[in-house]
Amino acid sequence: MKTLKDLFLDELADMYDAERRIVKALPKMAKAATSAELKNAIQSHLKETQGHVKKLEQVFQSFDEKAKGQTCEATVGLLEEGDEIAADFKGSPAINAALISAAQKVEHYEMASYGCLHEWAGLLGNKEAAGLLREILDEEKTANEVLTALARASSNEEALGASDGMELEEAPNKRSYNLRRTVRPLSSRRNRAGSMSR
Ligand SMILES: [Fe+2]
Repeated sequence: MKTLKDLFLDELADMYDAERRIVKALPKMAKAATSAELKNAIQSHLKETQGHVKKLEQVFQSFDEKAKGQTCEATVGLLEEGDEIAADFKGSPAINAALISAAQKVEHYEMASYGCLHEWAGLLGNKEAAGLLREILDEEKTANEVLTALARASSNEEALGASDGMELEEAPNKRSYNLRRTVRPLSSRRNRAGSMSR
């Protein structure tokens, strides 16, 4: 019969795979971002994510287990969606809002997973593992909050600005991305919003 420890190790292997995929995906997301602040936030979370891989290895060790990953299908799917949205919104003023939404879906998946892992490690009586998992969970939560703050500070308004521009151009029925070429530069709005765009 499978036990809580089996469940824990199963989920741990999932997250070990997820974190290594995220390490590969974040540089692509940073490159796709046109906001300097978003690029910085993604790059600093990349360093944390590399740390998460190491911390997970320590968690495996604390259970006398060798670190191993098993394909995390949820992360595969979330990262694929992120790739798609980045490609679809390339060149759009909504690109940063799009990237933030994709990144936040990953963060929420991680927060749910680490919340469980942290609880289970405690129940299994492994304080070292519980502490490491708490550290990772806290970093994921902070990363998510930073993304929310960036969206609210300017990325969402930039994305909204694109819609305003379409209305100004009286092209309500043409919602294709090439409309951006007809949209007036939103420099005044961007300055007011303290834009991060370059
Ligand atoms: Fe992580």
